[in-house]
Amino acid sequence: MGTASTSTTRVAIAGATGYAGQELVRILARHPAVRLVAAMSSGATSTPRPMPALARIWDDPVVPLDIDRLIADTDIVFLALPEAASADVAPKLLAGGRRVIDLSGAYRIRDNAHRDKWYPATGPLPDGVVYGLAERDALSMKTARLISCPGCYPTAALVALSPLSDAGLLSGSVIVDAKSGVSGAGKAPSDRTHFSENHGSVAAYGLFSHRHGPEIEQELGREVTFVPHLVPLDRGILETIYATLVPGTTAARVDEVMHAAYADAPFVRLTGSHLPEIKHVAYTNFCDVGWKVDAHTGRIILISCLDNLVKGAAGQAVQNMNIVLGLDQRTGLL
Ligand SMILES: NC(=O)c1ccc[n+]([C@@H]2O[C@H](COP(=O)([O-])OP(=O)(O)OC[C@H]3O[C@@H](n4cnc5c(N)ncnc54)[C@H](OP(=O)(O)O)[C@@H]3O)[C@@H](O)[C@H]2O)c1
Repeated sequence: MGTASTSTTRVAIAGATGYAGQELVRILARHPAVRLVAAMSSGATSTPRPMPALARIWDDPVVPLDIDRLIADTDIVFLALPEAASADVAPKLLAGGRRVIDLSGAYRIRDNAHRDKWYPATGPLPDGVVYGLAERDALSMKTARLISCPGCYPTAALVALSPLSDAGLLSGSVIVDAKSGVSGAGKAPSDRTHFSENHGSVAAYGLFSHRHGPEIEQELGREVTFVPHLVPLDRGILETIYATLVPGTTAARVDEVMHAAYADAPFVRLTGSHLPEIKHVAYTNFCDVGWKVDAHTGRIILISCLDNLVKGAAGQAVQNMNIVLGLDQRTGLL
């Protein structure tokens, strides 16, 4: 995805009034190496909208989505849209020569039949799509035309499990028991996310039917049982991950593999047996991972947590942009 000089890279956000989009505005408006030239929302309002929570960070209005303007005025467009809107807009931007960083699930599932099942509104996969987990896919992202950013739950699961899976230390399937704050569902209120339903309760949902399950399986190459829960927090994800190690795998070997994998990863903090929690990662781009091995049973339990709107969405999207622009991954994110 080679682009013009980094100091003049022009970026824009479609979906800037959403939860993930507002985080993008907050980060990109202050990013030292790019210029945020437009923040767009749906065409639901014909007049420009202000962003009161971002006053003095971004004082320009939010304008209705304008694809011609995105093609004419930008180098990279961030899509923080529902997947059907992303699948409508992305091919037009690509045809107009723009680079796209997509936060939606539109193009995360590579197999066409599989994608039709989980994301029926998204159509064929455009050329040049790369799945972009910053810690693992940096090399392939550099030549991508569209980076499909991982989902928030998959990011936490893959950061924790990929090194062990890649090193051949896992045996059989894994269980990902996940908890998320309500902002993971976006800004449109629903019965489930209504304050008086969610406050004081914890609820499982999406058993064998959540789209992040097949995404984790695709990227890990093994069976996953994924059980999400909604918890009464506004932001944050914590996953408790249960797996079995290949016989003979020691706790020291697990430590060695995890530390080697993330020696140069600025946003992964390995906490070992000091288990991480959501308060430690909220409002940051960090993914914290702790674990414990049970020598008796050969099982490992990992705890992985992140802020769904930052490392799970806007932060990781900007981290990916930093990678393709050849910048330090931390630029604008610490
Ligand atoms: N929330 C998370 O934790 C999270 C994490 C990772 C990835 N994601 C993904 O990121 C995307 C955005 O999520 P979100 O939670 O920020 O959603 P959201 O709060 O519902 O915001 C959606 C945004 O898209 C705009 N929009 C909706 N339909 C549109 C259309 N047809 N044309 C142009 N703009 C349109 C909305 O504009 P209006 O304000 O005008 O309606 C709003 O700015 C989704 O695909 C989601 O799956 C979300």
